[in-house]
Amino acid sequence: MGNNIHPIFDRLLQRTDRENRLGQKSKVLWLTGLSGSGKSTIAQHLERKLYNNGFFAQVLDGDNIRSGINNNLGFSLDDRTENIRRISEIAKLYLESGVITINSFISPTRSIRQMAKDIIGAEDFIEIYINTPLEICEARDVKGLYQKARKGEIKGFTGIDAPYEAPLNPDVEVKTANLTIEESVDLIYNHLSEIIRIK
Ligand code: PPS
Repeated sequence: MGNNIHPIFDRLLQRTDRENRLGQKSKVLWLTGLSGSGKSTIAQHLERKLYNNGFFAQVLDGDNIRSGINNNLGFSLDDRTENIRRISEIAKLYLESGVITINSFISPTRSIRQMAKDIIGAEDFIEIYINTPLEICEARDVKGLYQKARKGEIKGFTGIDAPYEAPLNPDVEVKTANLTIEESVDLIYNHLSEIIRIK
């Protein structure tokens, strides 16, 4: 940090004040998984379910963030790392505001996710592994990207010619192959509801 930068830490209004006003504990829900694993769909349904139950949550999603604040980043490991670093800083701002974020990013390596956890703080970071086998993601191929990657029209596609390292010890694992969207969302919601509720 530059010598002339002086962040303010002793704020008059605290995160807990905002959490109490909103009636929830803010957390960062970090959904990781392959492209096409169902992250975005689950994130949106979870956002809706939280809202319907009186919580405030905001989805931050790969394609959206990459069309805006991160539109200068590609898919090299360095760019993916910078992508996740910026998103983690954004999620941290939301955390201070008392709002829960649902972060839906491939975040392909353990070290990238560890960086996110370090920026956000381990106590507020909830890792959710959207575990959908590559064969299923590729068969769905909702955006046609796997087909392009197999033809070599996209280089460095996660799971094809770029790595995806599954979490070793996620807080929640959602094996989507055997679950409906509703069941997947319920699995996450049931894990969360006691953690985020202010009694
Ligand atoms: S990362 O790895 O966390 O920085 O990726 P993320 O920001 O989540 O962006 C993933 C979406 O970008 C599209 N896309 C690619 N994904 C993986 N590899 C390559 N090379 C690639 N190129 C474009 C794709 O639509 C991903 O969206 P999802 O929702 O994951 O399918």
